[in-house]
Amino acid sequence: MKRILLTAAAAAMAVAAFAQVRVSVNETAKDQPVIPKEIYGQFAEHLGRCIYDGIWVGEDSDIPNIGGYRKDLFEALKDLQIPVLRWPGGCFADEYHWRDGIGPRENRPQMINSNWGGTVEDNSFGTHEFLNLCEMLGTEPYISGNVGSGTVEEIAKWVEYMTAEGGTLAEERAKNGRKEPWKVKYFGVGNESWGCGGNMTAQFYSDMYKRYAIYCRNYDGNRLFKIASGASDYDYNWTRTLMNNVRSDISGLSLHYYTVMDWNAKGSALSFDAASYYDVIAKACEVDMVLRNHEGIMDIYDPQRRIALILDEWGTWFDVEPGTNPGHLYQQNTMRDAMVAALSLNIFHNHTRRLKMANIAQVVNVLQAMILTRGKEMVLTPTYHVFHMYRDFQDASYVPVLYNPSNEVSASGRVYPEVSVSAASKDGSVVISLVNTSLDEPRTFEVSFDSLNPSSVTGEILNSKNITDYNDFGRGKDTVKPSALKGIKVSGNTVKVTVPAASIAVLHAR
Ligand code: AHR
Repeated sequence: MKRILLTAAAAAMAVAAFAQVRVSVNETAKDQPVIPKEIYGQFAEHLGRCIYDGIWVGEDSDIPNIGGYRKDLFEALKDLQIPVLRWPGGCFADEYHWRDGIGPRENRPQMINSNWGGTVEDNSFGTHEFLNLCEMLGTEPYISGNVGSGTVEEIAKWVEYMTAEGGTLAEERAKNGRKEPWKVKYFGVGNESWGCGGNMTAQFYSDMYKRYAIYCRNYDGNRLFKIASGASDYDYNWTRTLMNNVRSDISGLSLHYYTVMDWNAKGSALSFDAASYYDVIAKACEVDMVLRNHEGIMDIYDPQRRIALILDEWGTWFDVEPGTNPGHLYQQNTMRDAMVAALSLNIFHNHTRRLKMANIAQVVNVLQAMILTRGKEMVLTPTYHVFHMYRDFQDASYVPVLYNPSNEVSASGRVYPEVSVSAASKDGSVVISLVNTSLDEPRTFEVSFDSLNPSSVTGEILNSKNITDYNDFGRGKDTVKPSALKGIKVSGNTVKVTVPAASIAVLHAR
């Protein structure tokens, strides 16, 4: 892959940019929120090769597996410590009938996955396979119930089947191999109900929500955290209507925000120039404004913040890899995706008084995936590495930072930051992420703590020769991977380190 050339405008910007960034870390600040681990949530839909080939290969596969789950993927996810996994969709959720996915696999009916490429779905991965996987991973399940094409009775009985100790459905569950009920906390009442989930108006859906949600019961100590299907992007009317009309029996309201420049011409995941890179990261960073606006509306109706904002789909969305099924949303993942992930996570950390969960789309082989598979091979994407480097932010206490950010404007007129910094503290150590978005200017960060005189500072860095670099099957598997951050200088309460262009660094100071 060739090094991309800077446009004259981008070069001029680079010359004008600050080379020094002063960061003041207020690690002694009181009453700061915890960054919920669920901000690091994932999403797995019956879409393309996410479930089949990705998570599930079946017990008889010659791909090494643990009871049907791909072993390499399972181990990689375990290492990532994923806190929550959303399933079975997405759009698929509103056409999914849970009864098709229980009982002996050979008896399960087949259906056409009309949302995603017309693929035949054999239902071999269903409720048991999903909830058992979550238990094995130590992950909280987040189930999306069918409101679009399912009945109230169907959704109610699914909750009972999964979580009740007694009754006929519990007996059936036991016959299917699971005596004890599972714990299911997060439960979505529909998905994108304004579109693939039923084409409803906000007013109509808010009434439907109340009707469906009331029959989703809490059995035997299981308490559902019910999430209403929320807006996409800039649809503030949806949020306003839901907040106005649904005042009880709701724990969360969702939101979807994808980094896509133009739905009719999404652009290549792999081949792009500097202008398009800056445009994409600027669009990703616009989520800050979108979150703020939805939160502002929620604050009016719910000043005590009883209802959480749940960003249950986010990430980059590019044209599918040439030669693959357009309905399968398979795209490669470059260092640019890593930058989007790091910038987005830094933004999410600033919103956690209201934002309680975020689920990147999707965990494997779909959109901005953590993992890609091909036959027996598996690669970890640059995005995976960001999530891995950021693991210590999960459930850490937010630490306010002040720095001298300077913003730039991308070709489409959007604003992006030249640097982004976020910090949190956990177990006596402060974790700090430093992102340098410039394609050609290194930045020296001078990080000063309030009172900490660190005796140890270690760091990891993720970058690559070219922003278009990615991890490919075969020999290119480790083209983009983290390494130790060198050149960290500590003096008293100050840490100085240079972060090269287009790089993500994570420091641990204690
Ligand atoms: O993540 C892919 C799709 O994007 C989901 O199924 C849907 O909810 C959204 O439109």
